[in-house]
Amino acid sequence: MKTTIHALQSKKGVEKITAITAYDALFASLFDAQVDVILVGDSLNMSFGGKEDTLSATMDVMIYHTKAVCAGAKESFIIADMPFGSYQTPKMAIKNALKFYQQTPADAIKLEGGKERSKLIKMIVNEGVAVIGHIGLMPQFARSEGGYKIKGRNEKEMLKLTEDALALQDAGACMLVLEGITAKVAQHITQQLNIPTIGIGSGEKCDGQILVWSDMMGFFQRFKPKFVRQYLDGANLIQTALQRYVADVKSGNFPSLEESY
Ligand code: KIV
Repeated sequence: MKTTIHALQSKKGVEKITAITAYDALFASLFDAQVDVILVGDSLNMSFGGKEDTLSATMDVMIYHTKAVCAGAKESFIIADMPFGSYQTPKMAIKNALKFYQQTPADAIKLEGGKERSKLIKMIVNEGVAVIGHIGLMPQFARSEGGYKIKGRNEKEMLKLTEDALALQDAGACMLVLEGITAKVAQHITQQLNIPTIGIGSGEKCDGQILVWSDMMGFFQRFKPKFVRQYLDGANLIQTALQRYVADVKSGNFPSLEESY
């Protein structure tokens, strides 16, 4: 059964929401229905594009990957990330948000930013597109902020984040991603909101959790943030399998007669 935004919102305070990223149809089909939400995150620019940050992801790239994920996943709720530079003005934001709905079956779009984005979000919601907010550590701001900085470490940041979260809710955002926020502040925000919060590196009290799939499956080896729990030794498994294949080809053990016509 297809997961709806209503189903996700009704889990708040009742049952945790589970979410993971996916970038292609093959893995999306493996994750489908096992998790409530699949995010086509612009993190794909780093984990799959090999880039240093998310900033060079484009609308074309995000649309391509969103189409692929939607082809593989029919039940989970699918969110498409608006890439950096695609929602800087209201005109661009509406045009690009509509593009996701017109060209893909994604259920919602996600964009980064606090109170300053609330007008923009209201406009997109009024056009009939469901919006997920994203506050705290916002990877699209990492370059201008001089790195990936945990938020909510003092009273001022706590007040600012809470104000941001409430403004996004008032603007019509249907869920919020809380990234890299201290656990206490994420708990406070979660308690203040009627809409669900999905945490990443923001402690256990959020209404749900999301991880980048290649981090949690142990495929992305460049670095491992503290908040990532690795559920598979993916890179090792792949490399060991590949070594066996290479050895079999070299020794003439593959293909066998049964594997030949
Ligand atoms: O791009 C992404 O994968 C994200 C998650 C880290 C929430 O935005």
